[in-house]
Amino acid sequence: MTEPMPTTAAPLIGEGSLDPDALETVIAADETRFRHDYLEIRGLRVVFDGFVAVAGVDLTVTQGDLRFLIGPNGAGKTTIVDAITGLAPATGSIRFGGVELVGKASHKVARAGVGRTFQTASVFDELTVLQNLDIAAGAGRKARVMLRRRKGIPDAVEAALETVGLAHARDLPAGVLAHGQKQWLEIGMLLVQDARLLLLDEPVAGMSQAEREETGQLLQRIGAQRTVVVVEHDMEFLRSFASSVTVLHQGSVLSEGTVAQVQADPKVVEVYLGRGAGARGSSKEAS
Ligand SMILES: Nc1ncnc2c1ncn2[C@@H]1O[C@H](COP(=O)(O)OP(=O)(O)OP(=O)(O)O)[C@@H](O)[C@H]1O
Ligand SMILES: [Mg+2]
Repeated sequence: MTEPMPTTAAPLIGEGSLDPDALETVIAADETRFRHDYLEIRGLRVVFDGFVAVAGVDLTVTQGDLRFLIGPNGAGKTTIVDAITGLAPATGSIRFGGVELVGKASHKVARAGVGRTFQTASVFDELTVLQNLDIAAGAGRKARVMLRRRKGIPDAVEAALETVGLAHARDLPAGVLAHGQKQWLEIGMLLVQDARLLLLDEPVAGMSQAEREETGQLLQRIGAQRTVVVVEHDMEFLRSFASSVTVLHQGSVLSEGTVAQVQADPKVVEVYLGRGAGARGSSKEAS
């Protein structure tokens, strides 16, 4: 992955001073590094003891998309997230940013820029918000580097605190946070790990209406630059915030498109409402 620096590039630090042009180049490169990020899943299969949980799924999610993955219980949503993150036995192809993830161990998938949350928040209750983020920022880094970072709050941690709206709570133990805030902290932890693909499994489950609204806006902010896949049951939340939707059923893709398109798809109506329910395209009844 690492390309040799072109020999014509001006050195960043020459004769004891910073070259502003070279610095510009590096900053611009940082912006463009997201541009080719996309998730491309082809022919994904996950079989548990002969039971086919994911039966040949194709899925493409581009950077800047906010994709919702929905489907009835047991459709295979979480299993797909598990397969992407190296936690379920998968065949087929899962590429992110051009890197093949099938067959990679979880920590290598994380290093490829893929982060996920679980349905139950996994933050350290007894540590402060800042300490949780600091640990996440240090994950996979050498102790020596972490020690050096201790001197101040790393920029990435500061930025994540702002993005997830927890700057005011930085010194509180995570255990006292509201349920929604814990989910935001988890998302913040993915940001400081520099996850460029975020996979969120039912992030608004158990949240209040106000927390859902804030979470949706947070995901839109994050999704503008990163690739975000949200597994969700909450149809109201989906209608408000999804930019595209993939509907899964029994391990296969049943329908895909905008919210309006999938809601109007008779196959989706049938799966959610049962045959002959006659509420096609009606959003209220669909929930
Ligand atoms: N480790 C496992 N071993 C055996 N079967 C499994 C395993 N994990 C999942 N399954 C099965 O695979 C199917 C898909 O499960 P999965 O958890 O992906 O569904 P889901 O779409 O996330 O459902 P929900 O909306 O209930 O969370 C289910 O039938 C489930 O029982
Ligand atoms: Mg699930």
